[in-house]
Amino acid sequence: MTRRSPQKSRLRITSEFKKLTHYVFRYPAKFHPPVVRALIERYTNQRDVVLDPFVGSGTLLVEAAVLGRSSIGLDTDPVAVSVAHVKTRRYKTRLLKQSVSTVLSALATERRSEREYLDRMFTDLGPRSYERQVKPIHDYVPPISHLFHWFRRYVIVDLARIRCAMETVDIPESHRTLFRVVFGSIIRNCSNADPVPVSGLEVTAHMKRRDLAGRLVDPYTMLETALHRAVRACEDYGSMLPAGVSSTVMWGDATQLQNHLTGHVDAVITSPPYHGAVDYYRRHQLEMFWLGLVRHDEDRRALLHRYVGRTDVPRSHEFVHDTTLRTAIAKRWEAKIRRSSEDRADAFKHYIVAMRHCFEGLADHMRAGSPAVLVVGHSSWNNSKIPTTELFGEIAGSAFTLREVLWYPIKNRYMSYSRHNGADINREYVLAFYRTNRLPRRRDN
Ligand SMILES: C[S@@+](CC[C@H](N)C(=O)[O-])C[C@H]1O[C@@H](n2cnc3c(N)ncnc32)[C@H](O)[C@@H]1O
Repeated sequence: MTRRSPQKSRLRITSEFKKLTHYVFRYPAKFHPPVVRALIERYTNQRDVVLDPFVGSGTLLVEAAVLGRSSIGLDTDPVAVSVAHVKTRRYKTRLLKQSVSTVLSALATERRSEREYLDRMFTDLGPRSYERQVKPIHDYVPPISHLFHWFRRYVIVDLARIRCAMETVDIPESHRTLFRVVFGSIIRNCSNADPVPVSGLEVTAHMKRRDLAGRLVDPYTMLETALHRAVRACEDYGSMLPAGVSSTVMWGDATQLQNHLTGHVDAVITSPPYHGAVDYYRRHQLEMFWLGLVRHDEDRRALLHRYVGRTDVPRSHEFVHDTTLRTAIAKRWEAKIRRSSEDRADAFKHYIVAMRHCFEGLADHMRAGSPAVLVVGHSSWNNSKIPTTELFGEIAGSAFTLREVLWYPIKNRYMSYSRHNGADINREYVLAFYRTNRLPRRRDN
């Protein structure tokens, strides 16, 4: 049965906002902090525990903490988990500054001269010099396939030297964890990949042109700047944190919440991945290796099947074989897409079944009357707009009722959905569901 959606109204957002730790790592398709703030204020109360099952870089957790709410965040992407974790810790600024000095002094002797960096804009190290320079720090070069496609040789040496220094200097482990993420934040700009494409990882024609014209890549200066910025950010965040709030970040799968959560949360606020938009698995490949979050390709491949929203889903995936999907809009769209492309229809079905599992898990951990707020975009397929609000209304099942739909204009997003799935890029929508007192109907909602 299709339920009528509530009228859409505009979400009021104040322009005032604090940077806190939001910019420690550039994360694609992350929440706009003032939007999250507005949602937390609208749907939760002081001391509530808020869950974000697709936590990404932890924007919800950062804002929740400074507003006096405890929170739990979950993500299947190990880079996301590391980023969200370090952004929500409390550090002693004086000690953090000392650790930054320790790392920078250890690196001072390794640094190339300014003159050399200018030369390296046009000429990379030759293979022999590379072998000689990399030998003492070889263990710190990660086994990334096609490494020389993604990085210049001298950059690989510099990054491995930095990594070696950061892993071996005598500093508190919590600082080392933060510094790894800061190091991760410079990887993309040190690489030959275009920092902008949100779909994944590519050495674009634009980057090739920039390299031909001479592109300065100086990992040490980038790291130094990023470390100082991170210390200021952590200090700022720490000064705003009220006592008694906790932020918990877990690696986990939002389609299997029963494996990760115990007890109830008071509210859910999240932005699930868009179907066919950002390929986080591919996009974070370089960072995963350089941060030591995966050691081999097999480690990384083991993560792949967990990502929701991918466009290439193996036909063997259990969600593609699901026979319990009976929701009308989903069935109609799956059939419509299948007429043109089996692969896309499989990916669409995977997405819908994954989101249904997620709603079922949420229902188990929410009390009647609690809100589950989803921020979504409206996407298209073959120029027809998918009725996203109604679709989500259906997938949520009888354990939820959709009470409010709000929209807000998107400005200056680090995203370009239109190129990938024809989404309505000017607006995002807030779907406010409330837990009913009905049990989730696992097989036939
Ligand atoms: C739109 S992003 C969330 C961005 C986040 N709101 C922020 O502010 O950074 C969606 C996230 O869902 C994560 N994701 C994809 N599949 C997942 C799954 N099965 N379980 C948990 N997280 C998943 C992706 O890794 C990505 O970080």
